[in-house]
Amino acid sequence: MSSTKFTFPRPDAFTDVRMVKCVADLDVSPDLLILDAEVEKNHGEALPVCSNVVILQGGEAAKTLSTLEKLLFEMSRAELRKDSRVVVIGGGTVCDIGAFAASTWKRGVHLTLVPSTLLCMVDASLGGKTAVNIRGKKNQAGTVYPASEIVICTAFLDSLPPSEMMNGLAEALKTAVIGDRRIVDYLLKKDYTRAVEACLTVKGRIVAADIEETGERRLLNLGHTIGHCIEAATKLEISHGAAVAMGIPIVAEMLGNHAFAEEFSGIAAKLGIETEIPDMITLESILEHLESDKKTTAMGRIWIIPDGWENCRQLLLDRASEKDLLEKIWQ
Ligand SMILES: NC(=O)c1ccc[n+]([C@@H]2O[C@H](COP(=O)([O-])OP(=O)(O)OC[C@H]3O[C@@H](n4cnc5c(N)ncnc54)[C@H](O)[C@@H]3O)[C@@H](O)[C@H]2O)c1
Repeated sequence: MSSTKFTFPRPDAFTDVRMVKCVADLDVSPDLLILDAEVEKNHGEALPVCSNVVILQGGEAAKTLSTLEKLLFEMSRAELRKDSRVVVIGGGTVCDIGAFAASTWKRGVHLTLVPSTLLCMVDASLGGKTAVNIRGKKNQAGTVYPASEIVICTAFLDSLPPSEMMNGLAEALKTAVIGDRRIVDYLLKKDYTRAVEACLTVKGRIVAADIEETGERRLLNLGHTIGHCIEAATKLEISHGAAVAMGIPIVAEMLGNHAFAEEFSGIAAKLGIETEIPDMITLESILEHLESDKKTTAMGRIWIIPDGWENCRQLLLDRASEKDLLEKIWQ
């Protein structure tokens, strides 16, 4: 078992990360336990015992105001105090909404996140972003509330469907590009414990320096500018992870880094991630969806460009230059 501490700039905001081998070793003491239904189904017997349990179906439908209301109601029923602890065990959706509720009950109770998907282990659990979807639009409202504790147990991955595993592999591969090439080797060897540890170290370093996302934290959006367009253009038929993985070689190619794009796609293929853009995705559909990118400013959009492994930078492109560069790829 190893332990790492990330200290965030706010004095009350730090996160201890623990790694444990078995689900039975989680060693958490919830006053209220929020559980993903699939976790309960697949790992129920080994989970911590708690007299106040809320079970949620994972997926985007969990991140609604009605779930938030339900959780706050359960927090009231359980008579949670300011010093009570909420433990959430689930994927990124259940963790996002569970953390949102925990951040608002009594203006913030103790929070432990136990991610049960690879994506949540390598990314969503760390950094403090909580969120709810509004009118079908993702992450429209939220708080920044880092969990005081994250417990990683890769044994949860034994029950994860391959498509969900692929989403996490893609985000981990993105993190390798941003900050630690060794993550590729861990992923290829299926050494998920080391991969998660390394991903959290990269993300923790970046988030600690920029909790409000005004600078370096934007690097974590590598592949997401095009990725979100691909998701939107295919009405989410292409999953988030696959779309981000497709987005990374495109941004490399935009700036003429063909060798890196090829190498990245080769590694992604070995991990079972397809990076070839399907014919149905046209340049017009990409340009249309680009306008809703969160990094859009009056001057243009900030793109995250991979110059190579562990070497990414932010680049502001105005709409004309952006269109020129993308046209070369879609020729
Ligand atoms: N807060 C952040 O910083 C941050 C970062 C990245 C992504 N996110 C959010 O994370 C969400 C995606 O999270 P996700 O990819 O974990 O998806 P998810 O939470 O929807 O989980 C995917 C599916 O796997 C099931 N599942 C969970 N754990 C399982 C297990 N151990 N075995 C079997 N099935 C299991 C869930 O019930 C669900 O059906 C998105 O809403 C995204 O916005 C948040």
